[in-house]
Amino acid sequence: MTDPLRTPDFDHYVCDESIVGVEHVAHATVAVTWSDGRIDRHHPWTLRENAVDSETTSPVTRERVADIAEWDDGVAPTAIELCEDGVEVTWAPDGLVARYDPGWLRHLGSGEWRPASIRPDAKPWDATAGDPPTFDGRDYLSDDGVLAEALHTLAVHGLVRLRGLGDGVDMVLAVGRRIGIVRPTPFGPDFDVVARADADSQAYTGARLGPHTDIPTRETAAGLQLLHCLVNTVSGGESLMVDGFAVAEHLRVHEPEAFDALASLPWVWANRAFDTDVRWSAPVIGLDSDRIDEIRLANTLRLFPDMEHDDVDRAYRALRRFTRLADSPEFRSTFAFRPGDCVLFDNRRILHGREAFDGDGGRRHLRGCYVDRDDLYSRLRMLARVARGHRSTVARHART
Ligand code: OGA
Ligand code: ZN
Repeated sequence: MTDPLRTPDFDHYVCDESIVGVEHVAHATVAVTWSDGRIDRHHPWTLRENAVDSETTSPVTRERVADIAEWDDGVAPTAIELCEDGVEVTWAPDGLVARYDPGWLRHLGSGEWRPASIRPDAKPWDATAGDPPTFDGRDYLSDDGVLAEALHTLAVHGLVRLRGLGDGVDMVLAVGRRIGIVRPTPFGPDFDVVARADADSQAYTGARLGPHTDIPTRETAAGLQLLHCLVNTVSGGESLMVDGFAVAEHLRVHEPEAFDALASLPWVWANRAFDTDVRWSAPVIGLDSDRIDEIRLANTLRLFPDMEHDDVDRAYRALRRFTRLADSPEFRSTFAFRPGDCVLFDNRRILHGREAFDGDGGRRHLRGCYVDRDDLYSRLRMLARVARGHRSTVARHART
């Protein structure tokens, strides 16, 4: 027989504190008091609907199968007590006796289940940051510790570089799939950046590409972009990277009128390809409450100002200001690609570009792909969950 569930999920909980008191203090409040003095207040129904019995939580999927819409109004605790491994609650009207794991209760009270609490905070940087933080590519592929460190750095700094990955055409997909699902484009799972005679985009020429984000034309632009250098024998073509969050923060502090225009006035971003018509309307700076959450900027894909006529002048002025600052030595970091390098960056934060190059004097070939931010954060949480699993196994063995 399998062990009964301890928690309504697949996670592992390690808890350094213990519960010293638990009480149904009011109709809508169960209070849990911890050995460090913290008191957590929970609605009793949160506890009831997360019980681990099979009528409430599926032991297979660990999803909730109980439906609160079908409950009796009188669902409430009739007895609550501390027990050896947590808290035991007896529930009316069905008489269910449910046990709650202390680690799970600690986690519930800490609020660390909120997406934002598990997402490392971005630390904006300017040109003084220098070259991107760099990791060994082979270690990234084979060692979860290196993967965790590289992805954490990617979440915080918005940009990392892997070195020594060779020139395999599928390597960029292998690097992307270490994070999660590769997000395809109409051209397939990955794409080539190479100068071509039949170029249908500036990217496929030797022209300079000023700092931009890719696919701002979609409701949700790709969260991460990967660019792997297979060949680079041209002169020029250095990579440009700019932290768009840092530029936006700078404007918020020093030029608040420009910031407001960039964060509130939408532009239409559109592709003008032969056989697709993808377009979306959004400001350059996307806010999540007050937090800067994304940047959209691509000169080649910007259609028309989607705003009242009286706002257009200040929108253009603010856009020029943002673009000039982003492409200034104060914010721009420039470095050359070596074959075997792969850069990974947050495409909704870091503006990327390249210097012009002379395609006749050599060859420059990058392969790229996209992954969503969701998959980055999921992989980071999973790496942390596996590490918690090891710690909880060690802690269990220490007890037995
Ligand atoms: C692109 C692009 C960067 C480069 O293709 O959108 O930004 O270094 N390429 O060629
Ligand atoms: Zn690009």
